[in-house]
Amino acid sequence: MTHWWRRGVFYEIYVRSFQDSNADGVGDLEGIIQRLDYLNDGTPSSLGVDALWLTPIYPSPMRDFGYDVADYCSVHPLFGDLRTFDRLVEEAHRRGIRVVLDFVPNHTSSDHPWFRESRSSRTNPRRDWYIWRDPKPDGTPPNNWVSSFGGPAWTLDPSTGQYYLHSFLPEQPDLNWRNPRVIEAMEDVLRFWLDRGVDGFRVDVIHKLVKDRALRDNPKPPPEEEHPVYHFGGQVHLYDEDQPEVHDIIRRWRKLLDHYGERMLVGEVYLFDAERLARYYGNGADELHLAFNFRFLWSPWDATAFRREVETIEALLPRSAQPTYVLSSHDAPRHRTRFDHPSLGDARARVAALMLLTLRGTPFLYYGEEIGMRDVPIPPERICDPVGQRFPGLGRDPERTPMQWSAGPYAGFSTVEPWLPLAEEYDQCNVETQLHDPCSLLTFYRQLIWKRKRSLALLEGGYRTLPSPDGVFAYLREHPEQNLAVALNFGNEPVTVTLPRAGKLWLSTNVGRLETEGLHWNLAASEGIVVELEGSRTA
Ligand code: GLC
Repeated sequence: MTHWWRRGVFYEIYVRSFQDSNADGVGDLEGIIQRLDYLNDGTPSSLGVDALWLTPIYPSPMRDFGYDVADYCSVHPLFGDLRTFDRLVEEAHRRGIRVVLDFVPNHTSSDHPWFRESRSSRTNPRRDWYIWRDPKPDGTPPNNWVSSFGGPAWTLDPSTGQYYLHSFLPEQPDLNWRNPRVIEAMEDVLRFWLDRGVDGFRVDVIHKLVKDRALRDNPKPPPEEEHPVYHFGGQVHLYDEDQPEVHDIIRRWRKLLDHYGERMLVGEVYLFDAERLARYYGNGADELHLAFNFRFLWSPWDATAFRREVETIEALLPRSAQPTYVLSSHDAPRHRTRFDHPSLGDARARVAALMLLTLRGTPFLYYGEEIGMRDVPIPPERICDPVGQRFPGLGRDPERTPMQWSAGPYAGFSTVEPWLPLAEEYDQCNVETQLHDPCSLLTFYRQLIWKRKRSLALLEGGYRTLPSPDGVFAYLREHPEQNLAVALNFGNEPVTVTLPRAGKLWLSTNVGRLETEGLHWNLAASEGIVVELEGSRTA
């Protein structure tokens, strides 16, 4: 039997923005319960996703919107309480939907009792739970490390005269993962949620947990290789992330989860180098079940670029490891916006969805992509994200705006003004309008997801690139019982593709496509097709 996290389609819910049930303008757990039937009611009239990843739901001062946790074993009153959470898990499981929590182990909130104790004196028993160092003789920070959110990664705490490390905001101090007490405390956190029935965790910035023991300075990248995201702060992050000892911790977690049966860890491994990413799968069975591969987030709309990313990961992962793919998330501009073209409507979004859901790997959808939600421009006075406040134009609010459920007041998300502005186009772009429209993007996602569930080639088959004309990315998904050929035309011109064998149309991004069988296939501009090849069933 194939594991659920290999077969399934994951759906990321940015909890603040999915559904508000108590008229405070912020989404909550009860709201998610109300929308479970939309996500999967067991029939093709629902979206059909198999697992939900919820962004952090824990008590937090919300400096980084929940990624600054003040208590790992409770629920922020904005979102509900533990009873509501238990009900969410129960209701989701009743529908066959798994629930995955966001686990944020690299740092806590500065309001967490552990940090309050730690900062209270140099001799406090929890001092060594965080990373404290003396200033350099001239009073400057201990080394040159920078925060992912800009500025130095060190803040001086005047009361004890030492600097503490924070890879993100000063209000997000980094835990010291070289301290066994920290490892044990966080394992208790995992057990707390596993015992409540969660199916797994998305582990936040897992590659950052362990730092160089000697805290050496990071070097500069050669100018020709400098990458704006991966070399943030103009540094090669040699010493402040991806240290070998992180793998010992992941192996411990894997053992802990294995003890509970069918649970899963997916790591946010934000590394540029696919070879280093692959190491987080361990031997394929002793570290992460899945590791995010974010490279599609930076790919231009270009067949060769996507093909290269897929081939790279196919070549580097251990044989038993399962790739993942993601087009949008709460940290990057939405792909509907990135790939937008003034005269193509949602054609590219369809091609992208066809690719995401037919590659060999676990797909992660981001809420609203199934209706083609775009980034929403945020007026300066409504910017919430700390990144947007520090670097106008680079904030992550535009991709975090409320789900567009209907053309009604506040898009059916809330009965009051939501915490972030709604898209102006919500009266046309919403679930209610698209649900019963046979030509809508939502209908396309639903058809594709439900067909995928019955396709052995897609669920279990191998991957092989097929030769294709310029502008086309084509591949085969092979299984002894079924062979599917996928051809995606990224270009703005029609093109003819010849497949290895004749076959019948399985699905096209173009509703009402006329030509439905053959060996040579004429693809319209920005059309993607899947063809079931003849002779693929041996039975
Ligand atoms: C991860 C999260 C991001 C957060 C950061 C710090 O990258 O996805 O939203 O700001 O970690 O926790």
